[in-house]
Amino acid sequence: MCGIVGYVGKQKASAIILEGLKRLEYRGYDSAGVCIVQGGRLEVAKKVGRVEGLSKEAARHHFVGTTGIGHTRWATHGGVTDANAHPHVSSDGRIALIHNGVIENFAKIKTFLSGKGYTFKSETDTEVLCNLIAYHFAKEPQENDGQNRFLESVRKTLRHVEGTYGIAVLCLDFPDQIVAARKASPLILGVGDGEYILASDASALISRTQNVVYLKDGEIVHITPTTFSITTLDQEDVSPVVDKITWTIEDAELNGYAHFMEKEIFEQPQALENSMRGRFSEDGSTALFGGLNITAAEFRQIDRFMFCACGSAWHACLVAEHLIERFARVPVEVDYASEFRYRNSPLDRDTLFFVVSQSGETIDTLAAMREAKRKGYRVLAINNVVGSTIAREADGGVYQHVGPEIGVASTKAFTSQLLIGAMIALYVARQRDMSFSDGVQYVEALKSAPNLVRRALEQAPRIKEIAKRYSHYNDFLFLGRLSLFPIALEGALKLKEISYIHAEGYPAAEMKHGPIALISENCPSVFFVPKGEIFNKVVSSMQEIKARKGPVIAIVTEGCELPPGLADDVITIPECHEAVLPIVASVPVQLLSYYIAVERKCDVDKPRNLAKSVTVE
Ligand code: F6R
Repeated sequence: MCGIVGYVGKQKASAIILEGLKRLEYRGYDSAGVCIVQGGRLEVAKKVGRVEGLSKEAARHHFVGTTGIGHTRWATHGGVTDANAHPHVSSDGRIALIHNGVIENFAKIKTFLSGKGYTFKSETDTEVLCNLIAYHFAKEPQENDGQNRFLESVRKTLRHVEGTYGIAVLCLDFPDQIVAARKASPLILGVGDGEYILASDASALISRTQNVVYLKDGEIVHITPTTFSITTLDQEDVSPVVDKITWTIEDAELNGYAHFMEKEIFEQPQALENSMRGRFSEDGSTALFGGLNITAAEFRQIDRFMFCACGSAWHACLVAEHLIERFARVPVEVDYASEFRYRNSPLDRDTLFFVVSQSGETIDTLAAMREAKRKGYRVLAINNVVGSTIAREADGGVYQHVGPEIGVASTKAFTSQLLIGAMIALYVARQRDMSFSDGVQYVEALKSAPNLVRRALEQAPRIKEIAKRYSHYNDFLFLGRLSLFPIALEGALKLKEISYIHAEGYPAAEMKHGPIALISENCPSVFFVPKGEIFNKVVSSMQEIKARKGPVIAIVTEGCELPPGLADDVITIPECHEAVLPIVASVPVQLLSYYIAVERKCDVDKPRNLAKSVTVE
């Protein structure tokens, strides 16, 4: 949530910051702003709306300065107004600040500062933080050498702050420097050729450098035109580690697609290949993971798994639960990360924890992980963004390697999480009762997933045509059973988040216990109808809907014969192994949601009220 960019170098800062903000817009898009040091002032342009609007506003300021900061906002404290947009400038005009996070004790600090004569133009906690830095800066002894005076005022301020933050600060007295810090909000320093770019994620700086330093919680970076240094809140020096980002700017471009969501749906075959590359044993009977940091013998001792995540990642956990219990016969519990951290659920001693997060920055998932670790559990992470907080704090884990996911609605990261969950199920199963030949068959099935997804994607024109006919409905049900129940939940989530249509996912047989009351000719149902033991049961549920005039879209596996007239529209996906079915079945509901949202002229990649990475509680 909220995107942060900062620049110190020789180029015009505003152009670089605006380009970065454009790429970060998926983190928050209710307002945007930029502050450049020039002409002896902290010159600010900010505006409600998208970065495009800010660019026009910025043009009027004729920015030429080479140091600056910029922000895209996802409102927490205070409504969506120009005044509440970042950057904020202290009432003495000396400090400018951008902030991602929430300052919990801002009211107390505001009262204190008001008593000292500081004034406020906005309702934000950020402006309070900004003035507190100004207060400490004014108090810092003048004889402190320049760098330290600025740095120490930020450090002192942060010691008084409760809450979370990723911040970047400018100071009028040190016009070519930035001080930035983080606590539970991501911040990366790009080390370029004679320039430094600060950003809340790599997509904002990848066009200028692939060399980055991932800042850790409690670290403060001080950037000058020639160098940077990192220290902690306790003034300890930190030796920076410069990492290399493995993807390039092309990966973060639309490359001819209308939306990132569309691009990412069609990238899934390749993404799945990347997620499983090098992760099968030589004998082809099980999965292998390099970074679990837990031996096979230790893994075998685990008698229960606990999975925590949010949103789509939580749906992926439900599928993992189904597959691990089905194939490995080990009990699994899945919890919303946001619930787990407060629920104090009883846990067995030999429980292994997994957290699943595309971004690796979701605050609830991070907090759940920290709580599990505090209780002494080993936590492994399934995560896409390399160097993310969750990846760094986990005891081990599996990187998804699907490249940047920019569309707010998760697609390729979700199916890759399904794949990795299926691989973990295989790994655990092969350590227990699964035979060698069943393992080989399972591995072959997983290897076929990219091609099966390719074939499911061939249905796109047909699904587009169906979407046109269904886009006017305001309510949908998604119904599936067993491993496809979580995909029903995912289908409903995809539809509601990008097209604002009310949609619910249910196990198909639960219909008659309540949701069937919703059925009429105005409420279509999307059924997953795979071949197999529950085929006839699902068909019965469809009959119940049809008897009440509900329109039915059936997603069937090849070779399924539905009774005539039962479905109004049929989408066929390839028949596949149980471990791969949830992956392949996700494709039609992703496409259906996408095309319906496009038909309704919704902003697919930036749905209202949402942000890609939820870094506030
Ligand atoms: C839905 C979606 C969200 C995320 C959730 C967790 O399309 O993208 O529900 O799945 O916010 O995000 P991560 O995986 O980054 O922890």
